[in-house]
Amino acid sequence: MDLTRLGHTCVVGLHWGDEGKGKIVDLLTEHFDLVVRYNGGGNAGHTVQIAGEKFALHLLPVGVLSPNKMAAIGTGVALDLPRMLEEIQALGARGIHVGDSLRISDRAQLVMPYHKRQDQLSEAALGNAKIGTTARGIGPCYADKMLRSTALRAGDLLRPDEFREKLTRIVELKNRLFAALYDDREPMDASAMADEYLACGERVRGNICDTTRLLLDSIAGGKRLLFEGANGTLLDIDHGTFPYVTSSTTSAIGVPAGAGVPASTLQSCVGVLKAYTTRVGAGPFPSELRDEIGDTIRERGHEYGTTTGRPRRCGWFDAVAARYSAALSGITHLAVMHLDTLAGFERIGICTGYTTPEGPLSGFVADCSLLERATPVFEFLPGWDEDLRQVRSFEELPARTRQYLDRIEALVGVPVAIASVGPDRTQTLIRSI
Ligand code: IMP
Repeated sequence: MDLTRLGHTCVVGLHWGDEGKGKIVDLLTEHFDLVVRYNGGGNAGHTVQIAGEKFALHLLPVGVLSPNKMAAIGTGVALDLPRMLEEIQALGARGIHVGDSLRISDRAQLVMPYHKRQDQLSEAALGNAKIGTTARGIGPCYADKMLRSTALRAGDLLRPDEFREKLTRIVELKNRLFAALYDDREPMDASAMADEYLACGERVRGNICDTTRLLLDSIAGGKRLLFEGANGTLLDIDHGTFPYVTSSTTSAIGVPAGAGVPASTLQSCVGVLKAYTTRVGAGPFPSELRDEIGDTIRERGHEYGTTTGRPRRCGWFDAVAARYSAALSGITHLAVMHLDTLAGFERIGICTGYTTPEGPLSGFVADCSLLERATPVFEFLPGWDEDLRQVRSFEELPARTRQYLDRIEALVGVPVAIASVGPDRTQTLIRSI
């Protein structure tokens, strides 16, 4: 793949998140001028390893790690400002200074402390029916956006009196709501909250701007844009395994609305997948392995959440789900991550279909309860024993590994352009296609 010929592109996960998007965005960044986050918030965790140093970003676009690149947080992001400032500070302590190159949309929604509290209270009240959220306030923040009268945006911080007045009204309402719904009677202090957020706002006053205009001007000026998707396509609010999803448009179709660019902007789209499948939180996962093999994948792949530390559920590669996600986002190139993790299995499964007591499913369907009851149809390929971590080109991969990639490519219907054999930047294989 010629990385310079992708045009404006997007990197999205094709399963339930944690596919390794951060690494791919980092790899591509040098060929782009501007890296843009367009969805999600502190629920995401993008890990990048450069020269043995590990960086885990939740809100900042991965582009901030590359010098001389611009990074933008688009209108579709749920912005946890204090947390983002902590990230900036932590990077500063490691010699990476995020300054003017970061732009924050004045239209981005603010995640407030009451959103996180509501997330926790709501999950606790749901008991066994809980979604298993990251407790980062994502759902309540987007719910308030849709409600409009209880929403605050980054641009509101630039008008302190108005912000304080609005926040006072909202906090009063939330206090009453939490007491009535959850018997939570510890009132939140609007004035202290306003002080904290306005102080944060002052620190990023120069970064908050009309990013929609910035992106449109950048496109017109011939700059190249890279859109960094968060979470994974199957967590998409509309097209994922609803209700076990997050609250934003995680697929590539979220780019126009979440960033503020025309629908025709994307010229390619990179879909990221692990060589197996994982999921955190509740919800259907037909190819899940609740056995020793699943445990082995978890331990070998270090499959514990970047954001919450929760153990991830692990299973064989779900090609049915990947094909659906790739078609939805218009994926042009696949990146298959964690190939090294699968070394040592005698045989490797790929889920090629689902069956239910009512008969086989035609593909990935909207009915979550049907997916919960689905049993996977597995096809098995011979495994390999070779340690792939030192491999530096597709040609060096063992024949069985290449056979496995060929099968993924055929089942998903998109060419594999990138493969990853370890966490470091150098452990990335790019295929000429
Ligand atoms: P929320 O986004 O915190 O509301 O969580 C909703 C569901 O999405 C839960 O199952 C989370 O575990 C899952 N989720 C949200 N973001 C990510 C992610 O970046 N990686 C993996 N799972 C995620």
